[in-house]
Amino acid sequence: MSDSSRLRLLNAMEGDPRGEFAAAVREGLSASPKRLPCRFFYDGEGSRLFERICQLPEYYLTRVEAQILSGGASEIAGCVGTVRSVIELGSGIAQKTEILLEALLRRTGQLLYCPIDVCEDVVQAGAGRMLPRYAGLRITAAIGEYEAGLARLQKHIEAPALLLWLGSNIGNLDREASAAFLRRVAAALPRDSFMVIGVDLRKDRRVLEAAYDDAAGVTSAFNKNILGRINRELGGEFAVDEFEHRARYVEDAGRIEMHLISRRGQHVRIEALGMSASFEPGEAVHTEDSYKYSEEEVDQLLMRAGLECLRRDRDDGGRFAVVTARAMAHARR
Ligand code: AVJ
Repeated sequence: MSDSSRLRLLNAMEGDPRGEFAAAVREGLSASPKRLPCRFFYDGEGSRLFERICQLPEYYLTRVEAQILSGGASEIAGCVGTVRSVIELGSGIAQKTEILLEALLRRTGQLLYCPIDVCEDVVQAGAGRMLPRYAGLRITAAIGEYEAGLARLQKHIEAPALLLWLGSNIGNLDREASAAFLRRVAAALPRDSFMVIGVDLRKDRRVLEAAYDDAAGVTSAFNKNILGRINRELGGEFAVDEFEHRARYVEDAGRIEMHLISRRGQHVRIEALGMSASFEPGEAVHTEDSYKYSEEEVDQLLMRAGLECLRRDRDDGGRFAVVTARAMAHARR
């Protein structure tokens, strides 16, 4: 079969994405303290900036996870047996995913890969790279957010299934929400599905803060892009360099917090919202949390999510963990 006939793109954009962004910006910039949710980072520009973050020397997460996957792929594949479909939450261009898909294809010869991502460009780029390489691979992708994407894919997924949530994407949810989310995901998948989850581990503050505040300023540009997006999509008048990027590790909570700090007092008009937002000098807008886990916190997550751990792979430095688990039948509601 030709490469293009093995690719299907499903639209899972719910309602009115621009309207949702507008509502979130209005609400977040009217709140005190101000916030802008990180799920709006990933327009085309934001997704491109994120791919550059993944190549930064300070951003160890991508590199270390890829090493773990390379070392453990055939064992992980052995552990999940003969899965017929692989669903991935927030796939991006899926560079690391390919390591696992390759190991699975070596066992089964055929595989349906179902990436879910809000950015169609990166999904297309990943498919364009993978399809010519793997004759046994078919791709049915859903463009949209996680749960809408899963719902859209439901009737296409072939059991047994494996769900991937890599790259510490789990870090954007707090500990309670991530466990609850994984339970809902397990309930939306075929019975006895497997999961492979990439979790960033707690570590030295300096290593973490450098990873989220790199010397080349790419993470700063990524954070500020949300203001650029307001300008582009909502007629905002942000001078983005009047804001400063800040990333701090809050050790008690075990999370990196990213903020944008107003360098001075300013009023910023946002045309499409018919409002202007006022900022005090030094005022912070909270844009992202990125949770880090201890080994005990990983255990707790699995327990709360109703997942049985089958393998836990880590790098030698103990920076990152890749957990292979199975959804426990009794945890289904
Ligand atoms: C895509 C959520 C895994 O938290 O490390 C990277 C996003 N933010 N640099 C992360 C991010 C700043 C990233 N995740």
